[in-house]
Amino acid sequence: PANARLYHEKVIDHYEKPRNVGSLNKKDINVGTGLVGAPACGDVMKLQILVDDETGEIKDVKFKTFGCGSAIASSSLVTEKIKGLTVWDAMKITNVDIAKELSLPPVKLHCSMLAEDAIKSAVNDWQSKRKPKTAPSPSA
Ligand code: FES
Ligand code: FES
Repeated sequence: PANARLYHEKVIDHYEKPRNVGSLNKKDINVGTGLVGAPACGDVMKLQILVDDETGEIKDVKFKTFGCGSAIASSSLVTEKIKGLTVWDAMKITNVDIAKELSLPPVKLHCSMLAEDAIKSAVNDWQSKRKPKTAPSPSA
């Protein structure tokens, strides 16, 4: 196919069989919702995490992406990566990690940036829903 040289097979795999597509209940206090857009192209990504409020562990992840193949592949990949991590470890994932793993070309770097931003936005939303006293902290 014409795009075989542009897209690494891992991108195509995640694009054709995206993992963890769907939604979690936005109203659940343990669910964080991240909604971010890419100014460069207008694409939008929603990433939701279900967090264990005792440990900060991400128990479930769902995403919906209205964007290009690289954005869909990036979000699918990060859902696999962050499930089982604590929110603090998930926050350490950068778009460079994602882009490297998917061998994204430079012109597609902003697509993986969307995934990094979506994780941070989801964690921030989760944190903002919790009372400071009950939110676990990395030092706890
Ligand atoms: Fe939409 Fe690039 S133009 S993701
Ligand atoms: Fe914009 Fe992929 S998210 S080109």
